[in-house]
Amino acid sequence: MRQKILTRYLRVDPENPQSGAIAAAAEVIRRGGTVAFPTETVYGLGANGLDPRAVVRIFEAKGRPLKNPLILHVASLEQARALVSDWPEEAEILAERFLPGPLTMILPRSPVVPDQVTAGLPNVALRYPEHPVALALIRASELPIAAPSANLSGSPSPTRAEHVAADLDGRIDLILDGGPTRVGLESTIISLCQESPLLLRPGGVTREQLEEALQRPVLVHEAVLQAALSKEIPDGAPCPGLFFKHYAPRATVIMVTGEPDEQCRKVMTYLEENPGLRVAVLGTDDTLPRYEQGRVVPAYLESLGPRERPQVIAGRFFAALRRCDQAGVAVILVETIPTSGIGLAVMNRLCRAAENRTL
Ligand code: TXA
Ligand code: MG
Repeated sequence: MRQKILTRYLRVDPENPQSGAIAAAAEVIRRGGTVAFPTETVYGLGANGLDPRAVVRIFEAKGRPLKNPLILHVASLEQARALVSDWPEEAEILAERFLPGPLTMILPRSPVVPDQVTAGLPNVALRYPEHPVALALIRASELPIAAPSANLSGSPSPTRAEHVAADLDGRIDLILDGGPTRVGLESTIISLCQESPLLLRPGGVTREQLEEALQRPVLVHEAVLQAALSKEIPDGAPCPGLFFKHYAPRATVIMVTGEPDEQCRKVMTYLEENPGLRVAVLGTDDTLPRYEQGRVVPAYLESLGPRERPQVIAGRFFAALRRCDQAGVAVILVETIPTSGIGLAVMNRLCRAAENRTL
C-alpha cells in the first residue's frame, strides 16, 4: 500500500495571489513535491518539470499510465522557447494571438526536457496559462511546471479545489484553492509537428479561431468526436491521451442525439421504460421545464445552461458529472449540442465520458 501523505490546503486570492502562499507552494515545487493549483481551464497537479523524480510523483498520485505524457507550463515565451529545438513561425503567430491563454502547442522537444515528461516522444507539449495564480507559482519557482489535470486518472477534470481534494487528498503535498476555474474544460491542444497543424484536443481556443490566425485549415484528429476505445496505443500516435479512458464518472453516461425536441422525447421514453433505474438528466435551459413536468421525473436533474451559450455549458460540464455521481445515479443522460465553436470541446469530452454510447 502506498503511504498516505499530509495534504496542506491554502486559500489564495485568484486575482492577486498572496505572496506568502505562492512562496510556500513554490518551495514545495523546488523541493520536488506536488502542488495542485488553479489555471483558467481546470486545476493542474504540478511538479518540477525538469526533475524526473518529481514528475514521477505526479503519475503515482493520479494513478496515471507512464505512457501518457505531461504538459509543461511556462510563464513567458522566452521560457517556452528554451524547451524546444524548433520554434516555427506558426508557433510565433499562435503565441502572439492566444498566449497567455487556454492553448497548448506541441513542438519538437529540447534535450533538457526529461523523458518522463514526454513519455519518450520526440515532442513536448507547452502551455502558457493566463491565470494569475498559475503564473505567480511558475515565476516564483523559476521552473517549468509539469502539470496534468488534478484528478485521479480517468475521472472528470477538477474545476474547483473541492474536486481536487475529493480525488487527491492524502496523495499530494499542497492544494492552492483559488476558487472555480473560468473555462471549465482543458486547453486546446494543437500539434505543429506535422505538415499541417493538427487539432488533438478542442478547448477554449476554437478551431475557427486557430484557422483564422494561421490562414489555413487546421486538421482535426479523427478521435476527437469518436472516442478511441482500444486499450493499446497505436505506434506513432500523435497524442497518447486520446487512447486512455477519460472524464468518466462512476455512472454510465449516454449522450442523447437529435434536434432538441427529439432529444426530449428520447429522454422521456427512456425514463418511462426504466422506472426502477436511478437516472440523472443533464439538459439545457430550454428542455428542463419539460422534464420537470414529465410523467416520470428523473432521480437527478440539472441544466447545463442555455443551448445558445455553449461556453456556459463547457464551464459546468465536469462539475455536473461529479454532482450526478454524488446523487448516486446509475445512468446519466446528457443532451448533445452543435459542434461549432467551444461546442466541439464539450462534445469531445462527452463522447469520451460516454465511450460513444448514444440514445
Ligand atoms: O488545460 C489544460 O491543458 C490542463 C491544465 C492543468 O493546464 N492540463 C491538462 O493536462 O489537461 P492533461 O495531462 O490532463 O492532458 C494533457 C494531454 C494528454 O492527453 C496528453 O496525452 C497530451 O496532452 N500530451 C502531453 N504531452 C504530449 C506530447 N508531447 N505529444 C502529444 N500529446 C501530448
Ligand atoms: Mg486530464
